[in-house]
Amino acid sequence: MTTELGRLIARRIALTGPIPLADFMAEALGHPRLGYYRRALPVGAAGDFTTAPEISQMFGELIGAWLAERWLAMGGPSPVQLVELGPGRGTLMADALRATRGVPGLHAAVRLHLVDTNAPLRAEQQRALGAFAPTWHERFEAVPAGPSLIVANEFFDALPVRQFQRTDRGWRERMVGLAPDGETLGMALAPGTTPFARFLPDAVEGALAEIGEAGRALAAAIGARLVRDGGWALIVDYGYDGGAGASLQAVRDHRGAGILDRPGETDLSAHVDFAALAAAANAPVFGPVAQGDFLRRLGIRQRAESLKARASAPQRAAIDAALARLIDPGQMGTLFRVLAVGDGRSASPAGFSEAE
Ligand SMILES: C[S@@+](CC[C@H](N)C(=O)[O-])C[C@H]1O[C@@H](n2cnc3c(N)ncnc32)[C@H](O)[C@@H]1O
Repeated sequence: MTTELGRLIARRIALTGPIPLADFMAEALGHPRLGYYRRALPVGAAGDFTTAPEISQMFGELIGAWLAERWLAMGGPSPVQLVELGPGRGTLMADALRATRGVPGLHAAVRLHLVDTNAPLRAEQQRALGAFAPTWHERFEAVPAGPSLIVANEFFDALPVRQFQRTDRGWRERMVGLAPDGETLGMALAPGTTPFARFLPDAVEGALAEIGEAGRALAAAIGARLVRDGGWALIVDYGYDGGAGASLQAVRDHRGAGILDRPGETDLSAHVDFAALAAAANAPVFGPVAQGDFLRRLGIRQRAESLKARASAPQRAAIDAALARLIDPGQMGTLFRVLAVGDGRSASPAGFSEAE
């Protein structure tokens, strides 16, 4: 049984023909009334997945320290825009702001801007961050001009991707069409060639490839903004450095699901191509580095020790477990990566090389 959104998409395809997978993903996540990121409360134990800030306060605290250091490196502009893309429950930003209370002048300078399309999550963000009087936006491009510190954790993976398959006649785009019953969604290949072929490498027949057009466009907008107005962006996500085939995946209730199953109720996400983002930003970039290395260089072990010094035995065990989850190679430590984009006017940021 499909969903109301699944039926709407099927009707659209019946009228216009198969649509690119990226259009399906944009509808499934962003449909104004029925899209997954418009209506569901996806983040946290009760949602479909758990994210780093929900695992431990240490994550947001260290990112807060990184952002504060960047603000000082910029010369401490006031006002400065603190922008979060896809803040989820507001946990990362709340931890970051709590950790930076003691930085003279920072909180007085901060204007908080949150980019999120999800009404239930915006309500949670209001609860967590209301004291900082945030302004919400549907899109990054709506954030006013000015020096900015931008953070995005697990945001780019939710942006639509196109997929392609290599055939004996060259690359063909993967489309979403209708099964003969006229209702069930199914994957098909576009019959003709694609203008994206020139961006795709030579590959054996059957190979799959992905292009995150929306992510590249956003990286370009961020880079242009930072170079023009000054500032820094920190992008954290799971991903790879160019050419990883097809990574789009579906998750519902903490379990894998079919990409076309129950649109609007299923989370869709793709691994982020950091090499493509770095190139699109067209600004000075640092990384990507593994999340584990980044957090270790910022002092996560020391932070864990200081939290443990004031904790009970069960709390100490929980802090150790959270630390392992965030930095161990088998867990989020290597799967997640961190990329910084800068304005080319301030010294190199912490966390990106061992020499610090
Ligand atoms: C995977 S959650 C990550 C939440 C948070 N950063 C965290 O780490 O817990 C993605 C967030 O981005 C928002 N989001 C997803 N797609 C979006 C889009 N196209 N425009 C604006 N916000 C979007 C969601 O509502 C959600 O808050």
